Amino acid sequence: MTTTSLPESLIATLPGDYYTDPEIFRLEQERIFEEMWFCVARSSELGKPGGYRTVDVGRESILVTRARDNSVRAFFNVCRHRGAKLCTQEAGEVKRAFQCPYHAWTYDLEGKLVAAPNLTKMPDIDRTEYGLVNVHVREWLGYVWICLADAPPSFEEQVVGAVVARLGDVAAIDRYGIADLEVGKRIVYDVKANWKLIIENFMECYHCATIHPELTEVLPEFADGYAAQYFVGHGAEFGADIKGFTVDGSEGLDRIPTVSEEQDRRYYAITVRPQVFINLLPDHVILHRMYPVAADRTIVECDWLYLKGVVESGKDVSRSVELFDRVNRQDFDACERCQPAMSSRLYAKGGVLVPSERHIGEFHDWIHDRLGTRQSR
Ligand code: FES
Ligand SMILES: [Fe+2]
Repeated sequence: MTTTSLPESLIATLPGDYYTDPEIFRLEQERIFEEMWFCVARSSELGKPGGYRTVDVGRESILVTRARDNSVRAFFNVCRHRGAKLCTQEAGEVKRAFQCPYHAWTYDLEGKLVAAPNLTKMPDIDRTEYGLVNVHVREWLGYVWICLADAPPSFEEQVVGAVVARLGDVAAIDRYGIADLEVGKRIVYDVKANWKLIIENFMECYHCATIHPELTEVLPEFADGYAAQYFVGHGAEFGADIKGFTVDGSEGLDRIPTVSEEQDRRYYAITVRPQVFINLLPDHVILHRMYPVAADRTIVECDWLYLKGVVESGKDVSRSVELFDRVNRQDFDACERCQPAMSSRLYAKGGVLVPSERHIGEFHDWIHDRLGTRQSR
C-alpha cells in the first residue's frame, strides 16, 4: 500500500473503484441505503390523505402516502399478487385506494387489500396478510424518513445524533422550527458523480476559495479553507458588511424569530449520513437529499425553506436562493470533474487528503466498516 510511504501531512483516500464499481455500489445499497434511515420527502408534499410519492431507496421502489388519519405510511411499491409495480408515477393522488394496473388488486391507504376480482370467492385470503408490506417511517423536521431494515437502527442515534454531534445539542436545531417552515424553492440536480464525492465535497472547505467566490464573500472565514464541520457548535460568521445570506450580500428574508442571538448572522452545515445535508441560516434552512441511482450518478433534491409568511406573501427569495444554487452548481461541477478520473489507472490506489480534510478519512473508515471491506482491500 502507498499509505505507508505518505508524508505525515497526508492520508490516503478510498481507492478509485469505490466510486465506479457497480459491485461496490450494490454493497452500499444493501448495507447503507437499505439498512439506515433514509430521508425521502417533505411531509407537506404528500398533501391530504391519498397524496403519494414513490422513491427508489437502495434497490427497492417505495410508496409513501398519507393515510386517512393523516399519518404518513410507506410500503414496498410491489403488488402482492404477481409483483407488478403498483404506482408508476413519481407523485400523485388517489381518492381512497391504490389499484394495481395488472389484475386490479386494490389496497386502501393503510395498505390493506380491499378488493380484487373474485376476492369474495377466496374467503380464506387474509386481507392484511396480503396487504401492502410496510416499511418503518419517522417524521422529523417536516421530512419523512424511512428505513427498510427489519430492525431499524435508533433514529435518535443515527439522525438526531448526527445533528447533536455537530451543533452540541438538539435545542440548537429546534430553534429553527424547520417542521413549520415552508418550501419556497426546490431545485433538483442530476449529478454525474458518485454520492460519496458529493459528501466529501460538502465536508471540506479547502475548495471554497477556489470555486465559491460568492460564498467566501459572504462568509470570509471560508476563504482560509479551514471551515470544516468538525468544530462542534461553530457556525461561520457573516462578513461585517454583509446584510444577509444572499448572492450579493444584500438583505435576506424575515429572520426566524426563535433563532438565538448567538446563531444570528451565522451559517451552520450538518451532514447526516448517508444522504442529507442541513444548512442553517437565520432566515432560512436549505436541506439537500441525495438519491444515489448508480455508481456514477446521484439525483440531489434541494429545498429552500422559509417562514410561512415569507412564502405566502410572495416575497422575492431569488437572491437568497441564487447564492446556494450557485454553490451547488460549483460543487457538483467539481464532483463531475473528479468522477471520470476515478477510473483512471492513476487513481487506482486513490488520492490524498490534506490535514484540513482529515475528517474525510473518518468517513472513509465508516464506509469500510459498513461494507465490511477494510480487511480485504
Ligand atoms: S400483479 Fe397486481 S393485481 Fe396482479
Ligand atoms: Fe463547496
